[in-house]
Amino acid sequence: MRRKAQPILGLAALALLLAACIKNSPQDALNPQGPTARQSYDLFVPVFWIAVGIFVLVEGALVFLVIKYRHRKGRKGIPPQTHGNTRLEIAWTIVPALIFAVVAVPTVTTIFDLARRPSGDVLEVNVLGHQWWWEFDYPEQGINTANELHIPVGKPVYLTLCGAGAGYDGSGVPSECQPGGPEGESPAAVGAAVIHSFWVPEISAGTQDVIPGRVSNLTLQADEPGVYFGSCKELCGLSHANMRFTVVAQTQEDFDAWVRGQQQDAAAPADGSLAATGMREFLNGQCIACHAIQGTEAAAVGGPDLTHFRSRDCFAGCMFENTPEELAQWLENPPARKPGSFMKDYELSQTQIDALVAYLMSLE
Ligand code: CUA
Repeated sequence: MRRKAQPILGLAALALLLAACIKNSPQDALNPQGPTARQSYDLFVPVFWIAVGIFVLVEGALVFLVIKYRHRKGRKGIPPQTHGNTRLEIAWTIVPALIFAVVAVPTVTTIFDLARRPSGDVLEVNVLGHQWWWEFDYPEQGINTANELHIPVGKPVYLTLCGAGAGYDGSGVPSECQPGGPEGESPAAVGAAVIHSFWVPEISAGTQDVIPGRVSNLTLQADEPGVYFGSCKELCGLSHANMRFTVVAQTQEDFDAWVRGQQQDAAAPADGSLAATGMREFLNGQCIACHAIQGTEAAAVGGPDLTHFRSRDCFAGCMFENTPEELAQWLENPPARKPGSFMKDYELSQTQIDALVAYLMSLE
């Protein structure tokens, strides 16, 4: 038995060791790319080394004593027993208490620092956790998008998060989170009242639970333009693992251009085109019950706003690349691709799918 377990244990240890060497790790909290993420990293490192020191001391002493006082051949009976040592006991009570006190000072200051609303020029974004996708609402810019959060570099972004389907009567909360808000009545939203957790390891100040009925905040900031990966960190149902998102950090100029683009209404497709047929399918079919497209009569809020669908690189919890092929497969049977999806299989014909894909792909 023991002999059989040895190679398995060895392999497991090797796998663990090799996993630590991974280079392509887009969600690496040990690779902070912004001041808030760096602040928690700078707290983690010294606390980690203190813990390593204690581990080595305690385990070292344990191993040393086990070896030194092991049973030896010819030794009879049990060795003399010691009961109680007041000095030693006082020491091992006071020393850890002192270590905790020392660690507590930077820990508490960092916690309060990161929880504070950043001062100065701040971008505000409301984040709604749905089952299973993220809604990003820019109140000042009047933009609503999904799965892809755009931010300018070098500027703190203050997120106000809540779980969709929430009711909360506090002040300064996104309207979607207030009782009777647009989400309030939708059956999808009621079913979606579960806890999520928002995390962008490289640029956020740790993780933040996204709770129905309660509003929470999180600050993130990126130093350099780039795409940062995030995911839901709280088991929230069947497609928890399919609840990914990206943060696209851009120069202020690029960000402003993106904002202007997103503020436009959707472009109407040319008469007689396949996209125009798709638009009719969209507005006369089931899509309009859950989705909004600014500039058309579609204005529902249960699902993602699709006004600039094509401008996003991914959809449906960022599990799929935004290509005509992926989109066609999605429309064919959404729950087959994302288990538990509130978007049902509407048994669309191939003709309908082709037209809808042409329309959605025209929404730049
Ligand atoms: Cu949302 Cu896990």
